[in-house]
Amino acid sequence: MRQSKLFTKTRKEAPSDEVSKNAQLLIRAGFINKEMAGVYSMLPLGLKTHEKIKQIIREEMNAIGGQEILMSSLQPKEIWENTGRWDDELVDVWFKAELKAGGEVGFGWSHEEPIGEMMKNHIRSFKDLPVYVYQFQNKLRNELRAKSGIMRGREFGMKDSYSFCDGEEQHNKIYEDTIKAYERIFERFGIADRTFMTFAPGGAFTEFSHEFQTICDAGEDYIYLNKEKNIAINEEVMSEETLQKLGVKKEELKRVKTAEVGNIFNFGLQKAKDIGLFYKNEAGEKTPVWMGSYGIGTTRMMGVLAEVMSDNKGLVWPEEVSPFKIHLILLDGKDTTDARDEAERLYEDLLSRGADVLYDDREVSAGQKFADADLIGISNRFVISDKTLSAGQIEYYSRQKGTTKMITEQELIERYV
Ligand SMILES: Nc1ncnc2c1ncn2[C@@H]1O[C@H](COP(=O)(O)OP(=O)(O)OP(=O)(O)O)[C@@H](O)[C@H]1O
Ligand SMILES: [Mg+2]
Repeated sequence: MRQSKLFTKTRKEAPSDEVSKNAQLLIRAGFINKEMAGVYSMLPLGLKTHEKIKQIIREEMNAIGGQEILMSSLQPKEIWENTGRWDDELVDVWFKAELKAGGEVGFGWSHEEPIGEMMKNHIRSFKDLPVYVYQFQNKLRNELRAKSGIMRGREFGMKDSYSFCDGEEQHNKIYEDTIKAYERIFERFGIADRTFMTFAPGGAFTEFSHEFQTICDAGEDYIYLNKEKNIAINEEVMSEETLQKLGVKKEELKRVKTAEVGNIFNFGLQKAKDIGLFYKNEAGEKTPVWMGSYGIGTTRMMGVLAEVMSDNKGLVWPEEVSPFKIHLILLDGKDTTDARDEAERLYEDLLSRGADVLYDDREVSAGQKFADADLIGISNRFVISDKTLSAGQIEYYSRQKGTTKMITEQELIERYV
């Protein structure tokens, strides 16, 4: 992509009503557009980044046997009435609408009930189990407060997976596999050292659920953490009883601010009983399906990365998430066209090799090019100028490490294409 053609430009200021750092940075860098509080559109740079986040999750979910689906956003009222969760007292984030033809629909804030309903068409016998499916879906929630940029949207991206198992043992395997997949995902996002599996409010079946909490000043949660012992407890379940159960003392734990990037739930048999999802087990008995559900906030993830990996110059993406892998920057010499010719040749060559490259071919000052590159935050930057040309090499700059070195074209191609 030529930066001269890239839709959008960077801007000096974010809208004055935007209070969150992640959205301010992402708006200024041209990744997102604010539609209203809690509602943002993805522009080319933002969409590419979000797609890379999704791709990492997709690869790791596929690796543990997940199969991707996509469910609808419009949901029938009746299936939520059956479980009592159509009630606005119980679920305070519903968006609902009247159908012109009569009746009401809900906008998907979760897919637990709809997917359970759908599985009635597909799960009959123990031979059909386990089923493990996931989707990337825009969830719609009437959140009361939406001041955390893309970390708390009224419309936001989520990966949600659901497991359907023949008994607890089968369920436990998927649950454990998912924990490992999540750990790999957060490793690839570069936040493993600040993300902790946390004991959290449980829900119907288990005493605790597990959340994945990332240390982040812009988060909305607090956890009590002991890094050495790798124990984290959500403030919401912090009590003498919890401490005793987990065998820790309050003095050993530090209260830190975090953002919930993911969570996993074991529903036991309760959810399937509520939904009415039964199958015939090996003994031929009618049995409720053992269900689990597993979320990761994909747009929140992008917001968290923008928060925790940025510096005073702008965004700093980890390589796997960076909207482009390569940022090729031409510094045009005043008297010669050699640098431009060379940059054009290299850009075309990289494209023909299938490289993921943004090429700053614009006729603007070097200062502006570097300021924009710092703001956009692409991880690998390569500079071509008269100076690098006469050295017969290319200048490489790592946005994450802040280091510069000279490399050959061959090295660029081998390492970054
Ligand atoms: N309003 C939101 N905007 C962006 N991401 C969200 C939002 N609500 C939840 N998420 C993300 O989706 C994941 C799964 O959703 P889930 O319904 O389990 O979250 P939640 O418990 O409602 O989260 P929270 O406590 O932050 O409201 C969360 O772990 C979080 O990463
Ligand atoms: Mg919520």
